[in-house]
Amino acid sequence: MNVLDTAPDARVGIDVGGTWIKGALVNLETGAPAGEVLHLPTPAGGTVEAVADTLERLVGELGAPGTAAGVAIPSIVQQGVAWSAANMDHSWVGLDVQAHLGARLGLPVSVVNDADAAGIAEARYGAGKGRGGVVLVLTLGTGIGSALIVDGTLVPNFELGHLEVAGYKAESVASAVVREREGLGWDEYAERLQQYLSHVEFLFSPDLIIVGGGISACSNEYLPRLSLRTPVVPAVLQNAAGVVGAALQSAASRVGPLSLAV
Ligand code: BGC
Repeated sequence: MNVLDTAPDARVGIDVGGTWIKGALVNLETGAPAGEVLHLPTPAGGTVEAVADTLERLVGELGAPGTAAGVAIPSIVQQGVAWSAANMDHSWVGLDVQAHLGARLGLPVSVVNDADAAGIAEARYGAGKGRGGVVLVLTLGTGIGSALIVDGTLVPNFELGHLEVAGYKAESVASAVVREREGLGWDEYAERLQQYLSHVEFLFSPDLIIVGGGISACSNEYLPRLSLRTPVVPAVLQNAAGVVGAALQSAASRVGPLSLAV
């Protein structure tokens, strides 16, 4: 079943990142934000309550009272409960974030891992649209997020940013933020990505790798320097993928597990 047959309207999509919290009303037929994507700074410390205050403000500014919302967070999420907290306060871990934010915002809320949100958005509307087989979406940002989609169905919480390569956690040496922090040139950065992606390719043999996150805007700098047997393409929705996917997840969670109907 295509989820959009059941829920063809708009949803609020919110992406909670380490630096910005982004939100938009998303048209689920096109996958496009219905207006501007609003950005509010992530409160220092990233506690649940401070983030919930920011979400309240964001939902108010979007001006869509009562519209169901999807919230993407940088955590492992099972049945609405967060089981990790990357670059966020530890108060998220073990919390039923879905129930908590639903009560705070007074809306039906569904919560999803941020990379999974980006992954389903790319699979449904972007670079993975209509692709069967094994599609791996990697987001290069503060950390490295990953989403695995097999014949249009998401395998949730696929934490490949934490894979160890040559003794280092991948996201601690090859994320976009690490590139900036260490002042790496594109050749040096591409070498690190090459080592990581070769290992990922060897372990999972994906049919397609989609690279997203903030750095997808300059993919012409590093993609041509990579050599893999798997096609590697930039994300189409770029930095809006998390917002769009969160909105899509909010519609899907009302009709059962998400199948992207490839
Ligand atoms: C987290 C993932 C998240 C990724 C991108 C990682 O550190 O463990 O859950 O998707 O960062 O934010």
